[in-house]
Amino acid sequence: MTDSTEQFINQLLGQMTLEEKIGQLNQPEGGDRIDPEALRQGKAGSVIKSAGALNGQSRTVSEGVEQANRLQQCALEARLKIPLIFGRDVIHGCRTIFPIPLAQAAAFNLELTQKAASIAAKEASAGGIKWTFAPMLDIARDPRWGRVAEGNGEDPYLGAQMAASLVRGYQGDDMAQRDKLVACAKHYVGYGSAEGGRDYENGEISEPTLRDVYLPPFESAVRSGVGTVMSAFLDLNGTPATANRRLLTDVLRGEWGFDGYVISDWASIAELINHGVAEDRADAASIALHAGVDMDMCTDIYLETLAANLQAGKVSIQEIDEAVCRILRIKHRAGLFEHPYTDPSRYAREVLTSESRQLARQFARQCMVLLKNKDNVLPLKGIRKILVAGTFAHASAELYGTWSLDGRPEDAVPLEGAFKELKPKDVELYFADDHDQALDYALETDLIILLLGEHPRRSGENANLSDLSLPPGQAELVDLMVTLGKPVVMVIFAGRPLVITRQLQQVDAVLYAWHPGIEGGAALAEILFGIHAPSARLPITFPRATGQVPIYYNHKNSGRPITSEGWFSSRYVDIPSSPLFSFGSGLSYTSFEYADLQLSSQVLRDPISISAEVTNTGNQTGNELVQLYVRDLVGSLTRPVRELKGFQRIELQPGEKQRVRFTLTEEMLAFTRADGSRGIEPGGYHVWIAHDSASGLCAGFRI
Ligand code: NOJ
Repeated sequence: MTDSTEQFINQLLGQMTLEEKIGQLNQPEGGDRIDPEALRQGKAGSVIKSAGALNGQSRTVSEGVEQANRLQQCALEARLKIPLIFGRDVIHGCRTIFPIPLAQAAAFNLELTQKAASIAAKEASAGGIKWTFAPMLDIARDPRWGRVAEGNGEDPYLGAQMAASLVRGYQGDDMAQRDKLVACAKHYVGYGSAEGGRDYENGEISEPTLRDVYLPPFESAVRSGVGTVMSAFLDLNGTPATANRRLLTDVLRGEWGFDGYVISDWASIAELINHGVAEDRADAASIALHAGVDMDMCTDIYLETLAANLQAGKVSIQEIDEAVCRILRIKHRAGLFEHPYTDPSRYAREVLTSESRQLARQFARQCMVLLKNKDNVLPLKGIRKILVAGTFAHASAELYGTWSLDGRPEDAVPLEGAFKELKPKDVELYFADDHDQALDYALETDLIILLLGEHPRRSGENANLSDLSLPPGQAELVDLMVTLGKPVVMVIFAGRPLVITRQLQQVDAVLYAWHPGIEGGAALAEILFGIHAPSARLPITFPRATGQVPIYYNHKNSGRPITSEGWFSSRYVDIPSSPLFSFGSGLSYTSFEYADLQLSSQVLRDPISISAEVTNTGNQTGNELVQLYVRDLVGSLTRPVRELKGFQRIELQPGEKQRVRFTLTEEMLAFTRADGSRGIEPGGYHVWIAHDSASGLCAGFRI
């Protein structure tokens, strides 16, 4: 917080009328619906631009520059000339669509994550946007929930690392730079715990789990300087997140020192009435403001009620002033007072460049997870005729995934074209339109690639599922194709883990491609034809059946652990208790061996160094994600069976070996106890250096 910013906002605050102050707390929906006169009267602090190219409306950010500048001009005609901040959902790229956030997490590549976010910031800011409603940092353990696509999976350590990279990517070192955005950590907090995977539902999370699992990505975003936070829709433990003063004020601001502003989610203040904690709109507004929600998204509820609330003594002028200061602080930090307008010529120059496409392709490649590769059927070699069939055989913009407001269908690389361009010369490809044609072609070809999965509209906000199986008709296509006795490679495009237990047995290879973005088709071709090798890992556990959900690797052991024998231990009687694929798992085109685990000490006083030797035992160059896990064996509270504490990527030539080292400190082992205190406890621990969360070399140490 610089003195000059504080001086500036205090001076400005001193000149503001109550109406002007309340205006700053209001964010109407932008576009043609907005009343320019209201802006001239200072009735908005921000405008949300929510229309998009892919959601059936035609306006993308490019067309929005002129409009944003026009609206800005209206705001600057108001008495105090306070600029608007334009917000938009720029979730995984702007015009250059990168893989969905869940896929980005699968790359376990923080540098690439940051670069992609900075390209998104450049493109969106060229379109007149200064604020993105990203990153979404909700830990999700339930793939039925559609929004699992928008977050970074189930792990708090990975989530916290991703949060820091994303905030740095969007905001840079200085959010006032013209090509940077203000980021928004959402949805604070616990939103991923929605019961039954139903969006907007309630969640119950114990304090230790909240602190150790759901909050770390948000704390990491705050420590990385995130400018704004969005309060969630859900009712958490009986207090709706938008009404939760303890979390929004005591924890976020008090404990972590957050000095930016909090925006509600869309209408989440008014929804306090439905939640049953507010009687009417006036009541809802005063509860939310008191809790620490500074800006209302889209309902005018503050605009309509706060003046009367103040008169009635339901809110104080200090509360209003604080909210105004937080908003002005971020606007000032974002350079809006100096540069309120966007240069319209930037868009054509800075958006969808060959560099941004290259990065999108690299990212797409690095997020595809190889889950099965029987007899090294992949990469495809020595095959002449290939059938490409299934729902996604002719995909292009379907590869974008959920929340791609500015992705234009015409920019997508159609998968078919990319395959034809990147295939070896002597390979013939046959693309089938339907099951009958697939069967017809299949009889003539040597290998079958099935491109299956879910349409982007089947994932994302409120796209929840009760059944995680492949969409109708797809399992039947697999059944049909495997009867021909030819090798079958199955590729899945999806926004979540789908249940592919049966197909896994049937086919020879499985590649999980998520929704990989604008260059997804080309990236897939590069992997299948061996131009690049897969290296991604699952950032979320894959269940064998929907009924296993919630299932996650860092669970508690229970008194009757699932690994023990016998009738009366934790299990299902109809399926194994283990997941289909564990967190962290994924194959490459080579193999790796782990050996010689060494600890610098058996007792942790100072940080200990843990290392193991990793060898590429296959005959291809490979990129391995080496993971560090720990288990606290005895605690005053039960502890997870494993927790990720570090990861490193290494690239090894065939036969090459490398010693990979991690450092473990006391702080990394701290956890939240029943009384809310945080710390480490003496006793025994296990540590693994591992390929995934279900394997690895293990040793013990004590504190
Ligand atoms: C509601 C969603 O929950 C949130 O993530 C999004 O940013 C807002 N709508 C604005 O579109």
